[in-house]
Amino acid sequence: MKQFKELTAAVLTLLATVAYAQEGEAPAGPSDVNVLGKGNFTSFVTEHPLVLAEFYAPWCGHCKALAPEYEDAATKLKEKEIPLAKIDCTVEAELCEKHGVQGYPTLKIFRGPDSSSPYAGQRKSDAIISYMKKQALPAVSILDGDTIAEFKTADKIVVVAYLSADDSENSATFTAVADKLRDNYLFGTTTDSALAEADGVKAPAIVLYKTFDEGKTVFDGAFTTEGITNFANVASTPLIGEVGPETYTGYMAAGIPLAYIFVDGEEIKEKLTTAIKPLAQEYKGKINFATIDAVAYGAHAANLNLETKWPAFAIQDTTKNLKYPFDQEKEITEASLAEFVKDFVEGKVDPSIKSEPVPETQEGPVHVVVANNYEELVMDNDKDVLLEFYAPWCGHCKNLAPKYEELAALYFNNPEYKDKVIVAKVDATANDMPIEVQGFPTIKMYPAGAKDSPVDYSGSRTVEDLATFIKTNGKYKVDAYVAPPPEPETEEEEEEAEESKAEKSAEETPVGSAAPAATETPKETVKKATEGAQAVVGDDDYLPHEEL
Ligand SMILES: *[C@@H]1O[C@H](CO)[C@@H](O)[C@H](O)[C@H]1NC(C)=O
Repeated sequence: MKQFKELTAAVLTLLATVAYAQEGEAPAGPSDVNVLGKGNFTSFVTEHPLVLAEFYAPWCGHCKALAPEYEDAATKLKEKEIPLAKIDCTVEAELCEKHGVQGYPTLKIFRGPDSSSPYAGQRKSDAIISYMKKQALPAVSILDGDTIAEFKTADKIVVVAYLSADDSENSATFTAVADKLRDNYLFGTTTDSALAEADGVKAPAIVLYKTFDEGKTVFDGAFTTEGITNFANVASTPLIGEVGPETYTGYMAAGIPLAYIFVDGEEIKEKLTTAIKPLAQEYKGKINFATIDAVAYGAHAANLNLETKWPAFAIQDTTKNLKYPFDQEKEITEASLAEFVKDFVEGKVDPSIKSEPVPETQEGPVHVVVANNYEELVMDNDKDVLLEFYAPWCGHCKNLAPKYEELAALYFNNPEYKDKVIVAKVDATANDMPIEVQGFPTIKMYPAGAKDSPVDYSGSRTVEDLATFIKTNGKYKVDAYVAPPPEPETEEEEEEAEESKAEKSAEETPVGSAAPAATETPKETVKKATEGAQAVVGDDDYLPHEEL
């Protein structure tokens, strides 16, 4: 999954960019960057097969830093017929929302209106140019007898389609998959039936070549984009892989449970890998098995409610975020694990739930949620509940705390609102929650009557904006915020105040939709987190997962 490596690099760049995000204005005069809006966005990305689009806000410092680089890249890529575009999200709110923009700038590569992927390169002119030129190469390489052998081993995972020359339908399907997954795997195709025969297949066929396990897997599903995508994802996952920064996101997104084998050395790793192989084979496609280096990522054991004692074994239900630690008093053997895994599959193992004690009384105004009162306080009632997931070591959370108290008081101290809105917080490092958050603080609204579809908060962390969010997304539309009386100011001062407010929210706004600046990710705080604290890792592609 080289994609994640690149993304991690991208995040580092984002963080680095903060240092020189200056006031610089975009150069005046004619620009090669195409300004797009609601009225012409779709037609533009339809007319141009490959477009890099920047979603930005004029006040955002990172956007200003990017502007000259982006302009330069646009000029140089113009002759390659790769247009660069920008969308001002303060004007085109609807368009930006439609494309899931959560922070500025967000850079996306469009291949037609329905296919976009995040730009994962650096924010420098040279990097943008080289990245986009590569993107412009065909996603599928055309292979023949001279090139196929080298191609098969050109990367860790290579996917080759053997098709007959007139099979345009399957060719189009394969190309569509390759377009989507081009950052993950190499794709090639050939119409030479002798090459198919040499590999023991007959067109139409797809073979995935890999440098591990059985070396290659032949596709045997229906020739649809979904079928091929699933095949590529399953066949590229090693029988017993390794959990690490590059693979974690993939495992979490796999949609099946992950069985962790914590090992603290090569010898025990070898021994357990050998012992568990038959199990992994038996449950292939149902449970992923992977070792994890306990020396580097031992803190992750706490996330699975395991003691830091090795070796250790646990299964995580990645869709419901439930943990099933294997009894650490028992010896880990092939037989003991076989029994445990069988019981797990048959639903005979109860998940382990970590919880702080349930508070006897809610002192208010911010309600304290723990794992064991989550159902009652958040889910099982007819109130609009705003819930903050925090970590004790998170600085952004500490900054938010007084404002959050102030917000909560607006409802808690009002007899009319008290029964309609709850403002609550949970220490997500000490309590197992049904969802795994991607960074701290994470704020979600669980509206009355629609608790199963919580709404993520992505605005600035002010009392006013949070109150507006509660009003907009809550069932009761409670409007509790009262603006403080305006202070008399001269016009000039007012303008300045506006500007500094904008700058401030720029800092607070998640950058690159991943929020490395606004939300504390485990990476930034890994040192603080290692003492048994839960290092939360999410499934957001942008987050660095070095800490696990
Ligand atoms: C797209 O529309 C906007 C107005 O919404 C206009 O300013 C811009 O020039 C148009 N861009 C192109 C490439 O036609």
